[in-house]
Amino acid sequence: MNFDQIIEKRRAVNFFDTEKDVDESLLKKIILEAGNAPSSYNLQPWKLKIIRTPEQKEALRKLAFDQPKVTEAPVTLMVLADRDGWKEGNPTMEKVFADFVKAGKMQEEQREWFAGARQALYGRDAEAAQAFANKNSSLFAMSLMFSATANGLESHPMDGFDHEGVRKEFNIPDNYWIPMLIAIGYLKPGAQIYPKGWRQSFEEIILD
Ligand SMILES: Cc1cc2nc3c(=O)[nH]c(=O)nc-3n(C[C@H](O)[C@H](O)[C@H](O)COP(=O)(O)O)c2cc1C
Repeated sequence: MNFDQIIEKRRAVNFFDTEKDVDESLLKKIILEAGNAPSSYNLQPWKLKIIRTPEQKEALRKLAFDQPKVTEAPVTLMVLADRDGWKEGNPTMEKVFADFVKAGKMQEEQREWFAGARQALYGRDAEAAQAFANKNSSLFAMSLMFSATANGLESHPMDGFDHEGVRKEFNIPDNYWIPMLIAIGYLKPGAQIYPKGWRQSFEEIILD
């Protein structure tokens, strides 16, 4: 499938085949592919919680305004955006810095400079840290959906859920925001996908 086909084929699908599971290795493949998404300083401030068991799905559906796709899709991915992902000591940040040093892109002595740059950009207030986490994780989320399509799967992003309720139910630590849930699976046989909704024209997208 080329990119034009992926763009055309990806839709927020409401009806999933409840009889067809998503193979574990395929799920792993789309997650690893999506991990190639770009991020600020390559900091990759995202994690996923995989919701797969009937009990987890029931609990999540109750907190997601009873959206049927949460239990009908074989898997729902909970995208987690790490508001602390820019901080010193954050394990992913430390790996990124070590990788920069190894690749000769930064020197060990630049640690303080790098910490200062991150602090200025993402640590100046709570809004900056929230924006950092959400923008990067949403690029990862989009990549997940494109990768799902490219691998023959359907998806559906959702922000219709009780954020704090989900945090509590699934013991999500405070440093994570949950930008969206993504149901993943196969289209229910015979189900119709609604016609694609209106999109802005080129002229409408461009702000003069
Ligand atoms: C961040 C985000 C949150 C969304 N939340 C929901 C949701 O909770 N429930 C729902 O039915 N659709 C949800 N949608 C799906 C949108 O309605 C859908 O993507 C949009 O209408 C365009 O349709 P398409 O994806 O099929 O092109 C969400 C989409 C995004 C990107």
